[in-house]
Amino acid sequence: MSRKIALITGAGGQDGSYLSELLLAKDYIVHGLLRHCSVSNNERVCHLEGNPNFHVHYGDMTQAISLITELKPDEVYNLAAQSFVKVSFDIPVYTCDVNGIAVLKMLETIKHTNPKTKFYQASTSELFGDTPAPQSEESPFRPRSPYAISKLLAYWLVTNYREAYNLFAVNGILFNHESPRRGECFVTKKICRGVADIDRGTINHIELGNLNSKRDWGHARDYVECMWRMMQHSVPDDFVISTGCSYTVRQFVVEAFSKIGMSISFQGQGLEEVGYDQDGIIRVKINPIFFRPTEVEDLQGDSSKARCLLNWKPKNTFQDLVEEMMTVELMPLAG
Ligand code: NAP
Ligand code: GDD
Repeated sequence: MSRKIALITGAGGQDGSYLSELLLAKDYIVHGLLRHCSVSNNERVCHLEGNPNFHVHYGDMTQAISLITELKPDEVYNLAAQSFVKVSFDIPVYTCDVNGIAVLKMLETIKHTNPKTKFYQASTSELFGDTPAPQSEESPFRPRSPYAISKLLAYWLVTNYREAYNLFAVNGILFNHESPRRGECFVTKKICRGVADIDRGTINHIELGNLNSKRDWGHARDYVECMWRMMQHSVPDDFVISTGCSYTVRQFVVEAFSKIGMSISFQGQGLEEVGYDQDGIIRVKINPIFFRPTEVEDLQGDSSKARCLLNWKPKNTFQDLVEEMMTVELMPLAG
């Protein structure tokens, strides 16, 4: 049997790098699309570049369309996105173009050039917005940001192309997932890096926004496995992927500081809230520039469907995740 060909957009991102590793281990030929930048942006996949089955293509989402036509891949994993929710309030048009309209163009291309190509869409728990937790495939969508709205467009396009044209197109509705490869703007990475810098003595405290929001944080390595399982399922379908446990940003902070032997306790309310270490030194402050115009307060996923039909469950707990992220951040800096 000939090898499967996969195209991964956003291959240089957190999930794209783990998924590339997974598919190469499964003997796929992997084509990864990375954005063309004047500075290097291949750090997460440069260790794969000697692999004869891994092919890097540079370009934006228009290149994804050309690659679908040219390569006729068995599977397309659309992971590329303007993925930072806060920034989507500043660049909503760009966000909707990249996260929404580009998906329409890819689906049209598949429909016209190779309707056997399977399509995975990186959907998100942000679609649920302020729908009360726990959220499942049956929960209503109430998006609260241009990011979530752009992803909702893509979600319904995938559903419609599946129903109207019989494409194998699926939505993975993934809750937050992190790793040492997480982008620096996201709260988990920002906290871990800040705590490591405090440990090195290069800064005294970190500044954060809303400490009350709750997230269902899993490990990216566990979640890319589920993306692949969705694409091997007998029928195309949409799945929520989550751990089922949620924690506040404040709890993440406490867990991360515990890895450098600091016990953080919080005092005060709102903008006046501060986190002190055991010696009474301020280690956490609130800065309103990190607030969002509209916030998603409480995400906790019910992934029973994926656990039952895909025989999937996460391997890593919240505590494992923080441990791994902090271990990497605390490694000696190069140079
Ligand atoms: P990520 O690290 O931000 O990766 C996204 C990738 O897309 C980056 O490599 C980025 O390139 C690329 N990209 C952005 N704009 C592009 C464009 N115009 N053309 C081509 N490539 C572009 O995000 P992730 O955490 O791996 O997430 C993967 C996908 O899952 C995203 O679609 C995200 O929205 C979605 N998702 C993520 C989570 C999560 O918690 N991680 C949860 C649910 C859904 P640059 O590095 O050059 O910017
Ligand atoms: N980034 C950031 N920076 N977030 C902060 C900060 C801060 O300084 N302080 C508090 N937060 C809060 C945010 O307001 C939000 O409620 C929560 O921490 C998580 O923020 P992010 O880590 O930026 O992630 P997100 O939940 O907004 O979005 C991520 O998960 C989505 C899935 O639910 C991204 O990966 C999205 O692409 C993904 O779809």
